[in-house]
Amino acid sequence: MKTHLTNILDEIDLHGEEKVRKDLLTFSCPVNPSIENFFRNRSIDFARRKLSITYIVSDMEDGLILGCFALTHKAVLISSSNLSNTSRKQLERFARLDRATGDYMASAFLVAQFGKNYGVDNGKRITGSELMDIVNDVLINIQREIGGGIIYLDCEDNENLTRFYVSEKFRKFGERFSDEEEQKYFQYMRFF
Ligand SMILES: CC(C)(COP(=O)(O)OP(=O)(O)OC[C@H]1O[C@@H](n2cnc3c(N)ncnc32)[C@H](O)[C@@H]1OP(=O)(O)O)[C@@H](O)C(=O)NCCC(=O)NCCS
Repeated sequence: MKTHLTNILDEIDLHGEEKVRKDLLTFSCPVNPSIENFFRNRSIDFARRKLSITYIVSDMEDGLILGCFALTHKAVLISSSNLSNTSRKQLERFARLDRATGDYMASAFLVAQFGKNYGVDNGKRITGSELMDIVNDVLINIQREIGGGIIYLDCEDNENLTRFYVSEKFRKFGERFSDEEEQKYFQYMRFF
């Protein structure tokens, strides 16, 4: 399957906001309604406000949306207590240690949203791993322009998801509770 990747702002420039909004309504993610809601209803506004930029992966042949992800960059606190010496050394390239707390403050790329379109027939669906490879490609290009070397994301306490991120070489570095969503998240990171 050949895929086509576009930045939502380029899509809007090319085809207009209404067309992009309409296309995004085909993104269906019943296993995670908040991700479905984000791509359908909030991704354009977030991109316009430069809060996060959505990337749309579609099938080169028929144009169907196969998956979407939203990227941004953010400071993140990483406790040194669970890190190996090797990880600490890697982290120190991109982070500052607060000696008083033992925490590292790092600047990192955040995969703010990530999901495949379950509206596409099962045989034609992209895999999570293929979608993550595309995230890597985008970030490697950004890294080439401005540097940086940590990717992180928040993930619900769900075995299917944690297994997936571990298989993609992410490691858990913390937990946080979102008051807004009343939800606990595990935080995962990876060097690249
Ligand atoms: C994360 C993801 C890209 C991984 O893709 P994948 O490796 O191809 O995995 P699959 O889509 O086959 O999912 C594997 C299993 O996890 C389940 N699953 C996926 N996301 C889930 C979620 N958010 N909550 C609960 N179960 C979920 C699937 O239903 C599937 O279950 P099954 O094996 O019983 O059919 C994909 O599962 C996805 O898009 N999930 C929905 C969006 C999401 O939750 N993103 C992560 C935000 S942190």
